[in-house]
Amino acid sequence: MRCIADTAPGPAPTVLPESTPPVTLRGFRFSDVPFVAAIVAEALQEHYDPSLYGSLSHDWADGFLVAADSRDVPIGFLLGVSQVEHEARILMFAVDRHFRMQGIGTLLMTQFLGRCRARGFRRVTLEVRVSNATAIRFYARYQFSVIDLLRAYYSDGENGYQMAREPP
Ligand SMILES: CC(C)(COP(=O)(O)OP(=O)(O)OC[C@H]1O[C@@H](n2cnc3c(N)ncnc32)[C@H](O)[C@@H]1OP(=O)(O)O)[C@@H](O)C(=O)NCCC(=O)NCCS
Repeated sequence: MRCIADTAPGPAPTVLPESTPPVTLRGFRFSDVPFVAAIVAEALQEHYDPSLYGSLSHDWADGFLVAADSRDVPIGFLLGVSQVEHEARILMFAVDRHFRMQGIGTLLMTQFLGRCRARGFRRVTLEVRVSNATAIRFYARYQFSVIDLLRAYYSDGENGYQMAREPP
């Protein structure tokens, strides 16, 4: 399953320190859909029904984090869901290619894991293409380990790794 959310009230926006790019972390809004969809198309080569983002944020609005620039335009996001008791699953995670390597992914992941801890989750899982060395290295830095090989997991036939971190 992958994304879309409604205007469920998210967490209070977190304004980041001046040492980071001018980014604000906030909850997802319906008006974010075109921007999030554009990031997904470029970064993940996927196209989803726009309604998906809203529906996936229903159960856990705080699991859908958006990094917005100074004009409040989304430049990255992390969409996590909780479909299994005491567990979170990262469904989508991407930063606009023009804004990578500036710490925005780190901010999103750090905030997300904090929310997982606050919810008392015992495990966080995700799936990643076996060819996505950048993302695998990033996740390893956050103590995610490969727990399974998912054969032909992606629509183009590529294998995936399931990775997990416990506790979050
Ligand atoms: C994975 C992804 C979300 C990371 O986002 P990001 O904003 O680039 O992440 P960060 O900038 O926080 O960290 C990326 C790397 O840059 C480094 N970095 C961060 N800020 C830096 C800086 N100011 N100077 C130099 N390096 C820096 C980090 O140490 C990190 O190193 P690593 O490659 O060893 O992990 C991003 O690469 C992306 O969108 N990829 C495409 C989509 C994707 O693959 N998603 C995951 C699918 S499962």
